[in-house]
Amino acid sequence: MSQLSRSSGSLDDTPSTPGKFKPDKPSPYIHRLRFHNLSKFTFYSAFFLAILCFFFLLSSPSGSNPRRSLGSYGGSDWERHVTRSARRRSDSGMTVLVTGAAGFVGTHVSMALKRRGDGVLGLDNFNLYYEPTLKRNRQKELQKNGVFIVEGDLNDKPLLHKLFDVVAFTHVMHLAAQAGVRYAMQNPSSYIHSNIAGLVNLLEVCKSANPQPSIVWASSSSVYGLNSKVPFSEKDRTDQPASLYAATKKAGEEIAHTYNHIYGLSITGLRFFTVYGPWGRPDMAYFFFTRDILKGKVIKIYETADHGSVARDFTYIDDVVKGCLAALDTAKKSTGSGGKKKGPAQFRIFNLGNTAPVPVSELVNILEKLLKVKAKRLVLPMPRNGDVKFTHANISLAHRELGYRPTTDLETGLKKFVKWYFKYYKEEKKKISAW
Ligand SMILES: NC(=O)c1ccc[n+]([C@@H]2O[C@H](COP(=O)([O-])OP(=O)(O)OC[C@H]3O[C@@H](n4cnc5c(N)ncnc54)[C@H](O)[C@@H]3O)[C@@H](O)[C@H]2O)c1
Ligand SMILES: *[C@@H]1O[C@H](CO)[C@@H](O)[C@H](O)[C@H]1NC(C)=O
Repeated sequence: MSQLSRSSGSLDDTPSTPGKFKPDKPSPYIHRLRFHNLSKFTFYSAFFLAILCFFFLLSSPSGSNPRRSLGSYGGSDWERHVTRSARRRSDSGMTVLVTGAAGFVGTHVSMALKRRGDGVLGLDNFNLYYEPTLKRNRQKELQKNGVFIVEGDLNDKPLLHKLFDVVAFTHVMHLAAQAGVRYAMQNPSSYIHSNIAGLVNLLEVCKSANPQPSIVWASSSSVYGLNSKVPFSEKDRTDQPASLYAATKKAGEEIAHTYNHIYGLSITGLRFFTVYGPWGRPDMAYFFFTRDILKGKVIKIYETADHGSVARDFTYIDDVVKGCLAALDTAKKSTGSGGKKKGPAQFRIFNLGNTAPVPVSELVNILEKLLKVKAKRLVLPMPRNGDVKFTHANISLAHRELGYRPTTDLETGLKKFVKWYFKYYKEEKKKISAW
């Protein structure tokens, strides 16, 4: 799969974050590769390439396709898409670069900003960490609403400079990251690539932009790690991460502080607590539990060593979006210019949780009720692979400073998720059978 995705990627944009997405069944092409001799291999490669070229030519007859091809960007057409997407409805609005716009939270935040009249431009590398069609379908939804996503990587410095040359962003909503706790043991370097190197590259470009934008970015509740004092408050210790993912988010908070201190960038970090909802992430438990319960597959439910329950402070996407917009709205301007600090700038960190932790077994109870299917449960001790026992947010700071007040309980939120799930996969099935 990695060979295939890399070779087809070179015709388009190669996402530099290696992905883990694997189709259910291996392609017959891979099968042949393994069992036949070299001349057959050459024949099939040529044949395959010819077919690829054919479809490539078919799909871009005039060369005016807004999607970047052959690794280039720019050009008047591309710039027109960028400026139109970034145009705000009124002078009082903001112009926001949303990184990770094809992601779960990024799609919802982009949509909410665009709806209220702000200018929005997306950036995403469409990596293969989870099913790429889901990202493409979110992109289509955004496109319908006038949001354009530039396809590129956070680490592409010329591209980022170009974006700031074309658009005077007032704000950056930075949501692009390698997410997921357990995957860090499989592919540690993807976390360094996006969450460390990519973050630094983005901040470098922001600090030298004129004017400097204000930055709001996603940290994570995982920075609390092995902290056992509940509820988690922003002042609690965050120096005992339990996963490489958590460590890169913690490092991100320190890096953000440095750029705030040296260059006068206004930076707000948001520690999200297990965000869920429609258009969510298939690598998260509520999502794959739904899929597996419907398939009649056994689901694994972890408990602590002393048979205690594992719990999460599940936070509904609409509540998180409100928190993100409030953080953007209350962000003060950066103080630097020309890469130099002129005075102290705002630096904030907020928990965005629900303050109502729910045991995972209760999550499954709710799903059973909504799906009307009994789950096949397998209760196992939690492996030491990065997950923590529980999360519970103290949100009084976000309440005071952002007016943040989550209003969706887990059952209400899951009902909306399940409704979306059925509709979405029904339409996907139709598309496949229409082929
Ligand atoms: N969903 C949650 O429960 C949760 C909890 C805590 C923190 N967060 C953080 O919130 C943010 C958004 O999370 P999400 O759930 O929407 O995840 P997501 O994986 O759906 O979205 C992230 C997007 O960023 C893109 N991306 C990754 N690396 C990139 C790179 N180098 N350049 C360009 N694009 C890149 C991916 O293609 C993806 O579309 C992330 O920073 C995540 O770590 C999420
Ligand atoms: C929650 O955090 C606030 C500070 O923002 C603190 O004053 C309060 O004591 C905390 N509450 C609990 C229950 O820990």
